[in-house]
Amino acid sequence: MFFVTGRNKLNGARDILATARQTLIVTGAGISAASGVPMFRGRHGLWRYPEFWKFAHPRGHEREPQLAWDTFEYARVLCELCQPNDGHRALATFASRRAVCLFTQNVDGLHARAGSEAHEMHGSLQRYRCVSELCRYSSLPSLRQQQVPTSWCPSCGRRLRHDVVLFGEQVRCWDDYQQAIRTCDALLLVGTSGMVTNTAGLVRRFRQTRRWVIEVNPALFTPATPWTSVSVRGPAEEILPELLEV
Ligand code: OAD
Repeated sequence: MFFVTGRNKLNGARDILATARQTLIVTGAGISAASGVPMFRGRHGLWRYPEFWKFAHPRGHEREPQLAWDTFEYARVLCELCQPNDGHRALATFASRRAVCLFTQNVDGLHARAGSEAHEMHGSLQRYRCVSELCRYSSLPSLRQQQVPTSWCPSCGRRLRHDVVLFGEQVRCWDDYQQAIRTCDALLLVGTSGMVTNTAGLVRRFRQTRRWVIEVNPALFTPATPWTSVSVRGPAEEILPELLEV
């Protein structure tokens, strides 16, 4: 009953979304692939580069703060040059018509630029915050129209850093996420390898409580696949406009 098989997976997935009262949507790096934002894993993934790995941990930022700032500024500018694609736009239109809770692991800001109110679980490269937890300075969501800031906090004078979650740090919007997991009756996973613990655990939890799980990914298999009700194989920028009928 909870598996949709056969050729017409897209129709099966569409039916699920049409009948769901509220859908939890979780996106990963794959949704931004067609926009030109690099992914994390795989042959050309960012984790292959030692310099990126070095600054994925807070320790790297403490040891070489200026180089960490410059590296993340470079990433921020690269993301800003990328444009939202049809996948981001399809989700924004769908969210304007249906009850959805959209959470993303991406820090590129492309969901917001496509018009979605996404919960950014790993923060955003488009915001800055003070390194001091006591200061709590956080910049406005978008500095696109403003000058690139210096790397010093305008409030307390300590260093600023990009407002992204590094390894060992607390994921954002956790309470909202838990609430959405409790209340949504369908889960749509888009473009994530499912390697990050909360995603893999989430999929299992949905299936164990007999709720629907749809996966959109061109990969033949991800760690989430055994737990999905329907796996639609293909790129998000092509599948989502069809699946969400926008
Ligand atoms: P990954 O790079 O691990 O996985 C990207 C997924 O997108 C893969 O499963 C690809 O098959 C799929 N993909 C590729 N092209 C696609 C397309 N056009 N449409 C749809 N899917 C496509 O990225 P995430 O799973 O998002 O965390 O990784 C999550 C987290 O891992 C990141 O946020 C980062 C990293 O460790 C932190 O930095 C804290």
